[in-house]
Amino acid sequence: SQIPVITIDGPTASGKGTVAHRVADRLKFHYLDSGALYRLTALSAIQHATPLNDEHALAKLAEHLPVKFENGEIFLNNKNVSNAIRAEEVGTLASKIASLPALRQALFALQLGFRKGPGLVADGRDMGTVIFPNAQLKVFLTASAEARAQRRYKQLIDKGFSASMEDLLCDLKARDDRDTHRAIAPLVPAEGAHILDTSNMTADEAVEQVLKWYAHPK
Ligand code: C5P
Repeated sequence: SQIPVITIDGPTASGKGTVAHRVADRLKFHYLDSGALYRLTALSAIQHATPLNDEHALAKLAEHLPVKFENGEIFLNNKNVSNAIRAEEVGTLASKIASLPALRQALFALQLGFRKGPGLVADGRDMGTVIFPNAQLKVFLTASAEARAQRRYKQLIDKGFSASMEDLLCDLKARDDRDTHRAIAPLVPAEGAHILDTSNMTADEAVEQVLKWYAHPK
């Protein structure tokens, strides 16, 4: 497909969500938060009390997610779960079930469907490596673990969750480890990806850099 795609992959709390969203706004492109799909599946598994070792049942949940994206809000079974899926326990569960091949396969077609004109900005772990390997621009966004823990802390507090820096740093490192070392679709920069370390950058500076790369391909 010739519909343009920009992929923004990176570790948890690297700022890719914010950056991807703003880049999409600037270009008037659609936006795919692929992590939300894993979080929605996790939330759905909690609601259905689906055992974590039942790969088949989890894949079924993923395949038939009653999800709706509307005005930047996310609905599961017509219930607004935009905040609920950001809870730390949901993210941790999401990263655990994300290692299941059948579940990733179930979400594959759903993700391809987001590629619509005039274009798409997709963020996640494997957007450039697996889902949109023919993307026009691939970015790997990263930042130090400390910078990311700080951002996650602020995000959670702003959403009214309680949080401890120490727990967050520990959880974040565990999640990095799982995402980087899993057998299927591990978190690695895609071939030809631009690497952007945002430890000492504002989100807007990162946005400008991505837009520059998009306007002037290498
Ligand atoms: O990005 P976010 O923290 O919302 O993603 C939650 C979890 O979903 C990640 O830790 C990762 O394990 C998984 N994920 C994935 N592939 C993606 C996006 C997210 O495996 N494309």
